[in-house]
Amino acid sequence: MIELRGAPAAESLLQQARERLQNLPFVPHLHVVRLGEDPASVSYVRLKDRKAREIGLKSTVHVLPEESSQADLLVLIEHLNQDQDAHGILVQLPLPRHIDAQTVIETINPLKDVDGFHPENVGKLWLGQEALLPCTPAGILALCDHHQIQLSGKQVVIVGRSNIVGKPLAALMLSRDATVTIAHSRTLNLSEVTRRADVLVAAVGRPGTITPEMVKPGAVVLDVGVNRLEGKLVGDVAPEVQEVAGALTPVPGGIGPMTVANLMLNTVLAAERQR
Ligand code: GUN
Repeated sequence: MIELRGAPAAESLLQQARERLQNLPFVPHLHVVRLGEDPASVSYVRLKDRKAREIGLKSTVHVLPEESSQADLLVLIEHLNQDQDAHGILVQLPLPRHIDAQTVIETINPLKDVDGFHPENVGKLWLGQEALLPCTPAGILALCDHHQIQLSGKQVVIVGRSNIVGKPLAALMLSRDATVTIAHSRTLNLSEVTRRADVLVAAVGRPGTITPEMVKPGAVVLDVGVNRLEGKLVGDVAPEVQEVAGALTPVPGGIGPMTVANLMLNTVLAAERQR
């Protein structure tokens, strides 16, 4: 079993971001917005802020109280949309229940939408037009490329249909000429579907979702899950899958670093397009 570590592949994305940064006449500025103190969000936002500074971007984290109104959040976004010194805007999800995430996403200027969640970017992705790509799916492709995992013609099965991972990843895999299946919680005979996969992606958010009998021997298994279980970080793939898979991403240290690295690259790309 080959362990598909994210760090080396993430480093080449970061290197690309640093090189492009050198050719810009200004320093791109990433603005991350967080509401409340959800521990996972606090930790993710800290990682993003640290990495941005590390590679030489400007980074500002805006922390709003959990009970802030949707109107307050939209005012901040409108302000950042107008701000010439804001090249990337990211609102950390999930948001508190009283706020409609889709309205928030649609308020962000698509040119500054470094998450690639705005309908304009989503539409362009599906049309195969140049767009800011969602960080985790784009990171997954970069990881596959780094490890020379062939996608063209392969059966790719994605378990999970979220707007953040499953759906955009399907579009990207399709653009690489893979044969793509999206499975989800209502899929009948799930293991029959997953056993067809040459490349199996788990993006559900539930530990132990993928067990060894669901995996074709030798398949590439990409674990996007990040779950806290008894104080430890685990993915969606059961540990025993190591015995069956040909290659597997670790959690932590697999897809996670790719997401953050791709956010840095997206911030530089967004800045380039706003020159
Ligand atoms: N929460 C979990 N993943 C993500 C992501 O990629 N972007 C944002 N904004 N929030 C998230």
